[in-house]
Amino acid sequence: VRALVWYGIEEVRVQDVAEPRIADPRDALVEVELAGVCGSDLHVYHGRETGLDPGTVLGHEFVGRIVEAGADVGLEAGTRVVGPFTTSCGACFFCERDLPSRCIRGRLLGWVQSGRGLQGAQAERVRIPLADTTLVPVPAAVPSREALLTGDVAATGQFAADLAGVGPSDVAVVLGCGPVGLSAVHAACQRRAAAVLAVDAVPDRLALAARLGAQPVELEQDPLASVHAATAGRGADAVLECVGSSAAGRLALDLVRAGGTIAAVGVHTEPRFAFAPGEAYDKNLTYRAGRCPARRYIEPLLARLAASPIGLAATIVSHEIPLEEGREGYALFAGRRGACTKVLLAP
Ligand SMILES: NC(=O)c1ccc[n+]([C@@H]2O[C@H](COP(=O)([O-])OP(=O)(O)OC[C@H]3O[C@@H](n4cnc5c(N)ncnc54)[C@H](O)[C@@H]3O)[C@@H](O)[C@H]2O)c1
Ligand SMILES: [Zn+2]
Ligand SMILES: [Zn+2]
Repeated sequence: VRALVWYGIEEVRVQDVAEPRIADPRDALVEVELAGVCGSDLHVYHGRETGLDPGTVLGHEFVGRIVEAGADVGLEAGTRVVGPFTTSCGACFFCERDLPSRCIRGRLLGWVQSGRGLQGAQAERVRIPLADTTLVPVPAAVPSREALLTGDVAATGQFAADLAGVGPSDVAVVLGCGPVGLSAVHAACQRRAAAVLAVDAVPDRLALAARLGAQPVELEQDPLASVHAATAGRGADAVLECVGSSAAGRLALDLVRAGGTIAAVGVHTEPRFAFAPGEAYDKNLTYRAGRCPARRYIEPLLARLAASPIGLAATIVSHEIPLEEGREGYALFAGRRGACTKVLLAP
């Protein structure tokens, strides 16, 4: 099968790889209709996140059809499905406590390290273990590109708003207006925050945040002043950090008010917090972080889309290109060029 394979820093290639096969009765093979390129793939692409074996097929966002299912999978061939970026068993301690992203049997798609792990979904076909508890059938009314976002980006935006406890009358700040930040803007606005300020340095991404209901704030133009102006000098009730860098971590602390919450969904690869324990103490800070339990967000998001099928994809997805052009797709997304916010690859 054709697949996008990682070889090293800023080096990906589309090539033939081994045909994925059913290896366990709970596996399914999915023929990929669309696969997303995520900001998380960029951490690997740029070499900030390490450990991945060269030769690994990337990708953890997908929508497609089941082509073959193991004996224990109650999903029929032909069913259109979406999945979260990690597999989950549905039965362990963490799955039962709404944290399928930390399932003891779960694994991240597109992550093979020291020969172990799962090949990714930026490919014609992908093997999904624990398929019956990982995959979700997509209602006929939901367009595939909207469905795809429910497995990661849209779920993670909702998760950030949940972690931050955004509610009516809150002033929320979203750091980063990539696909995840834009989804967080959408989620915070849905929760009727009094104001949502969105910070980024990329003008066309700020324009999209404004379209979704945020007040755009240019990163280089004193975000602290904008936040103070919106909060009588107190600082934000909630900061939704959707970047994953020391600079963003530091800015989050500077912008949050005393007693406020930072929800960090950006993936951090630096070795230390960007602020000192004493600074957290001095702000009576609540800091919540982590990998989105996307599996539990997919069904409610799909149900909403089935009722009203135009969702976030209409605003966020800027490029849908053939898988064969995946290398260019990575370069575009990584360079934030050509008003590129989200790339979907079509095998
Ligand atoms: N927690 C999860 O489960 C989860 C899921 C998906 C993605 N992520 C992570 O979320 C982050 C965002 O993903 P994405 O797909 O939107 O990525 P992206 O790279 O497209 O977007 C990041 C945005 O942040 C902006 N930015 C950079 N530094 C900034 C700063 N100091 N302040 C404000 N904005 C800044 C960039 O200009 C860019 O627009 C990544 O770290 C990704 O790994 C986490
Ligand atoms: Zn992702
Ligand atoms: Zn589990």
